[in-house]
Amino acid sequence: MLSTEQYIFDIKRLKAEKNAIILAHYYQTGDIQDIADFVGDSLALSQKAASNSADIIIFAGVKFMAETAKILAPGKKVLLPDLNAGCSLADSCKAEDFEKFLKENQGRTVISYVNTTAEIKALSDIICTSSNAVQIVESLPPDEKIIFAPDRNLGNYILNKTGRDMVIWNGACHVHEKFSLEAILRLKKENSTAKIIVHPECELPVRLVADFIGSTSSLLKLTKKDKGNCYIIATEVGIIHQMKKENPGKTYIPAPPIDSTCGCSECGFMKLITIEKILNCLKNEKPEIIIDNETLIRAQKPIQRMLEISEKLGL
Ligand code: 13P
Ligand code: SF4
Repeated sequence: MLSTEQYIFDIKRLKAEKNAIILAHYYQTGDIQDIADFVGDSLALSQKAASNSADIIIFAGVKFMAETAKILAPGKKVLLPDLNAGCSLADSCKAEDFEKFLKENQGRTVISYVNTTAEIKALSDIICTSSNAVQIVESLPPDEKIIFAPDRNLGNYILNKTGRDMVIWNGACHVHEKFSLEAILRLKKENSTAKIIVHPECELPVRLVADFIGSTSSLLKLTKKDKGNCYIIATEVGIIHQMKKENPGKTYIPAPPIDSTCGCSECGFMKLITIEKILNCLKNEKPEIIIDNETLIRAQKPIQRMLEISEKLGL
């Protein structure tokens, strides 16, 4: 076991030697966010993966994010420090079940959330993230029939916003579904000036008490530009690291889940990535993300479509 300084020193040295970059999601621990070359939400991370000059991408996040990076940059080596870093939401949508669902709902445009496996992306028409989901749906003609997968909470949030004809897959994220409405309301009572800010993967009762709903990056932007100074945050607790860095004078209260010992909501998959695993991964150049060529090529089109629409809309 090395000291944190030694890990950081070795990681920086190897990154330079191997022309590697670290892309990290906001749900990573603070030490990882601080050593990353780029920190962002799922949309920003896929945009960065699609345009950078590194030979190796170390993805500090979960598997579907690293797969998206590989699909967008097939010529690069994409490494995920722990291949067990999965996602309960992506797991809730298996390719064989999804194929059956598509057959039962033919004639609809398939919009899949980025939190899906490469196989699901290959079966989709357009990918979206929580940063652009509403805009992607609105970019389609008003009478276009849609399938949205796999998050039922995000799907219902979009449905309420757009009123489009949507069939929604019944999946969910175990972290965002667990927030305790009772505890959030109690915190609000104790901190009457606090704003409740919520990720759209949360369930309806939590979304209904929100002052603001948005992706991780829009929650971060809000805490920057908003005049308030206290926030109850219903998303994974890692985002608070950036909020504190960018606006240290404000108070950030993690919304508690129904059952937890730490009183905060951690995604156990995200937290499988550690600084030690990042160093080993850089040294050994594995575990590597490998996607079969046919799936990779089929998955490229819907992701590119998302990036094109997002670019047009300035997202
Ligand atoms: P973002 O799209 O906000 O990055 O969220 C990703 C995610 O995994 C939410 O649980
Ligand atoms: Fe998946 Fe939920 Fe973790 Fe996000 S927070 S990576 S949706 S399990």
